[in-house]
Amino acid sequence: MIELEKVKEQIKNFIIECDDEKCIELLEKLATGKMLRSKLILKIAGINEESIKLCAIVEMIHASSLLHDDVIDEADTRRGQPSVNALYDNKTSIMFGDVLYSKAFTQLTQMPKEIAYTISNAVTLLSIGEMIDVDLTKNFNTSYDKYFDMIYKKTASLIEASAKAAALLAKKDENKFALYGKNLGLAFQMIDDILDITQDSKTLGKPAMLDFVEGKVTIPYLLLFERTEHKDKLKSLYKKELLQEESAWIKQEMINTKALEDSIKQAKQLGHEAIKAVENENDDSLVQIMTAMIEREF
Ligand code: FPP
Ligand code: MG
Repeated sequence: MIELEKVKEQIKNFIIECDDEKCIELLEKLATGKMLRSKLILKIAGINEESIKLCAIVEMIHASSLLHDDVIDEADTRRGQPSVNALYDNKTSIMFGDVLYSKAFTQLTQMPKEIAYTISNAVTLLSIGEMIDVDLTKNFNTSYDKYFDMIYKKTASLIEASAKAAALLAKKDENKFALYGKNLGLAFQMIDDILDITQDSKTLGKPAMLDFVEGKVTIPYLLLFERTEHKDKLKSLYKKELLQEESAWIKQEMINTKALEDSIKQAKQLGHEAIKAVENENDDSLVQIMTAMIEREF
């Protein structure tokens, strides 16, 4: 997509404005992701100078949060490539994250006030979401409410804000698009959590079934814990390097109890809620973004 190239070009130009060689070098080390947030913004606001800038701002904030997240999670890969903390060190990852998000905020001050508020407020939420996520990995969490609150803040809030800000730019009904973005974001994180279980490490670009080892009790585990007759066994595997037969047992038990199937159903349901919110907009591409995300190999 040529317009996504324009977003990458805009990010590069913002970094060039920072006038520091090291930052340009580090930017080149970042692997490009799916750019879901940009796709969403451009679909809603169309392609113009302002919408490309908004995309660049959001992508820079997202990238900076991942630079910090990889330090927090001690991850050595990101999007199938070595992460910046692995290539350099934790300090570099944090500091470059700081440059990216402060430059993004500098540019945000040049946008209409309501857009600046919407995006910056979401960054507060996602930072709190990350804190909750880390906190929830301390003990085996069995609360759905805590899980949903966390994924809303950590992931859905910035996607919701991106859709809302794009609607504000395009003078469309911002509340409808915010709801679309929120449900899309929730479904997106749930699918990410499901893929951790169903996909192999090659497809994921990181080790498979890592969430549970890291202490994350995601939606398929929540359902499994509720339904399995072997709660003690499941608890005994929590935060443990899993042997092959142990991960195979978890997967099989998720199939037997329909924990996996029902997690996929719940994610798809949220996807349909998203589409319902913008039904009257007559925009097929919003439906396409959603279906591309949920109609996939699990
Ligand atoms: C990835 O989650 C992490 C996030 C979506 C948000 C991280 C947010 C922060 C570190 C707050 C700091 C924010 C800024 C702007 C500096 P994950 O670990 O579940 O997913 P992964 O498997 O992709 O790592
Ligand atoms: Mg992480």
